[in-house]
Amino acid sequence: MSAILTPKAIKTALAGERVALVGGAGFIGHNLALGLREYGAKVLLIDNLMQNNLLANISDTEVDPFRRELNFNFLRQRFEMLRDVGVEIASADARSMIDLENALRKFSPTKIVHLAAISSAVEAKKMPGHCFDLQLITLRNVLEYTQLRPDEVNQVVFMSSSTVYGDFKTQTVDENVRPQPYGIYANTKFMGERLVRTYNDQYGLNVSIIRPSALYGERCISRRVSQAFIENALMGKPLMLEGGGDGRLDFTYILDLVDGIIRSMAVESVPGASHTFNITYGNARTILELANIVKDVVPSAELREVPRNKIKPIRGTLSTQRAEEQLNFKAQWPLETGYRRYCEWYVEQWERVQAKVGANLM
Ligand SMILES: NC(=O)c1ccc[n+]([C@@H]2O[C@H](COP(=O)([O-])OP(=O)(O)OC[C@H]3O[C@@H](n4cnc5c(N)ncnc54)[C@H](O)[C@@H]3O)[C@@H](O)[C@H]2O)c1
Repeated sequence: MSAILTPKAIKTALAGERVALVGGAGFIGHNLALGLREYGAKVLLIDNLMQNNLLANISDTEVDPFRRELNFNFLRQRFEMLRDVGVEIASADARSMIDLENALRKFSPTKIVHLAAISSAVEAKKMPGHCFDLQLITLRNVLEYTQLRPDEVNQVVFMSSSTVYGDFKTQTVDENVRPQPYGIYANTKFMGERLVRTYNDQYGLNVSIIRPSALYGERCISRRVSQAFIENALMGKPLMLEGGGDGRLDFTYILDLVDGIIRSMAVESVPGASHTFNITYGNARTILELANIVKDVVPSAELREVPRNKIKPIRGTLSTQRAEEQLNFKAQWPLETGYRRYCEWYVEQWERVQAKVGANLM
């Protein structure tokens, strides 16, 4: 694999590529679509807007009306930004081979990125069968579509997860560490990786597997800790620090992940290649460090220590050395700049929605 991937080289490599993102209207997908358009690739998003998206947001009665409005505002921004840069969107359920095939055939992709999932391990645990179908039936359909068109589709990218590693036995894990996933989310991700590698091995598909970790960034509605903390600060609720907040995660800004994925698509590789990359910031930070940045942006935020949850997974740093060597990847956004920028954006969005709908929804 080539290591010299300047922006110009990436643009040249992606010229003429037609990239379909399955589950592409989500947090990662829409940011990836915007990034790919900057390099000139044509992009189609396929999504049924069902999971963690418009339909779920509108019908979710557990979310308070103000946050529903805020999320709706983020979702609308996604679609407006996509429209402005000419990304095509097809509404289809990727569990149905016919629906997926119809959407893909019209676009005739040269690369397909698979992102469809219940993207939260906590939510996936509540609906194991649904988790299986959204991750694996949709993936099977993508792989079958590709397998039948060896001369059209030159790469499948599968969005896996750092959870495939299970509890970290060492401070840092690289891609050679044997996965030990637990729970339905991590296991379906690992099964997905195995399926992708099997199609590579048996049918010669060119595949890339990406393992991201603890993402944060603009227009995310998943309410992971990075979003929950800034929201709680703005709502006057305490930021809960289990065990004093000494748990560590490899927090990654969405722009770094997008850069890494695009590099994995632009890099020169031989037919039938299979690659697995950790794409993260590459340095785990504590929950307390995250909370302190929120406190800097929202000085009234209350940090409250609570007892440790004993069943919390043990995480740490994902080494990005392989991506650095093979993709020329180097994450650009430490928490101090990336998370701060995100928090400041969040405050601005919060105030804007508040001014629009009034405090009566809060
Ligand atoms: N966000 C993270 O921190 C993170 C970390 C590691 C891995 N991942 C993985 O990356 C992928 C994307 O994550 P995300 O954060 O963008 O999630 P997301 O929930 O924002 O987006 C997932 C999208 O898939 C769509 N979808 C689900 N089932 C579908 C179906 N049957 N047909 C068509 N569309 C369907 C949903 O409507 C949604 O828009 C997921 O596979 C997730 O597991 C995410």
